[in-house]
Amino acid sequence: MSPILALDGVTRILGGQPILHDVSLSIPQSQTCAIVGPSGSGKSTLLNLIGLLDQPCQGRVLLGGCDMTAATSDQRAAMRNHLLGFVFQGFNLLPRLTALDNVALPLCYRGVRQPAARRAAQVQLEAVGLGRRSRSRPADLSGGQRQRVAIARALVTEPRLLLADEPTGNLDGATAREVLDLLLALNRDRGVTLVMVTHDVAIAHRMERCLKVQDGRVANA
Ligand SMILES: Nc1ncnc2c1ncn2[C@@H]1O[C@H](COP(=O)(O)OP(=O)(O)O)[C@@H](O)[C@H]1O
Ligand SMILES: [Mg+2]
Repeated sequence: MSPILALDGVTRILGGQPILHDVSLSIPQSQTCAIVGPSGSGKSTLLNLIGLLDQPCQGRVLLGGCDMTAATSDQRAAMRNHLLGFVFQGFNLLPRLTALDNVALPLCYRGVRQPAARRAAQVQLEAVGLGRRSRSRPADLSGGQRQRVAIARALVTEPRLLLADEPTGNLDGATAREVLDLLLALNRDRGVTLVMVTHDVAIAHRMERCLKVQDGRVANA
């Protein structure tokens, strides 16, 4: 089976500096992989390239076996919508919407009607242990609960690859462990591939694999 994700000779230059240089890697379906490295080393740059939010200066990004090099912006958006889910450090929930409507939003963007989108969103909120908080707004939820809403939102489109950039970076230690437990359970139960940037060594050690970004290179850690 082809890997869900592959980078082949990827270079990214930003502000005149080569941030990533000749990076090649391959991640099989359902693997859990941490990306670690010093602050400013290029971890987010790498994740943004993987997530098709950015494009390499050289080299190829392959997702689900498709070479995205020559893809149009519509094709890139379609790949993001169908294959990928994103979770960020800052949760990025819309404050005026309830938890339920935040989670339903990606389906509404896809043209799913609101009742069906809300039903699917409720299922995902239950899966992250927040079935009873569907009417709450982000401001009424704790940090850990907000991140679980964000994870439910990322999962509602049933992605095969979940990309998380410091998802526990704003959480205290115990809450961070709960969020990590949830992500690992989703990997185990649904086979979702998990690629997570973290600078927390304890979190990185719970992933099957750990890649380190340093001096523009990516190596097994
Ligand atoms: N748009 C940009 N223009 C110029 N330099 C950038 C840009 N984005 C990031 N950088 C630089 O690239 C390097 C890597 O950034 P980043 O990938 O965010 O690091 P990390 O996530 O590992 O902390 C940093 O030195 C940062 O200043
Ligand atoms: Mg970063």
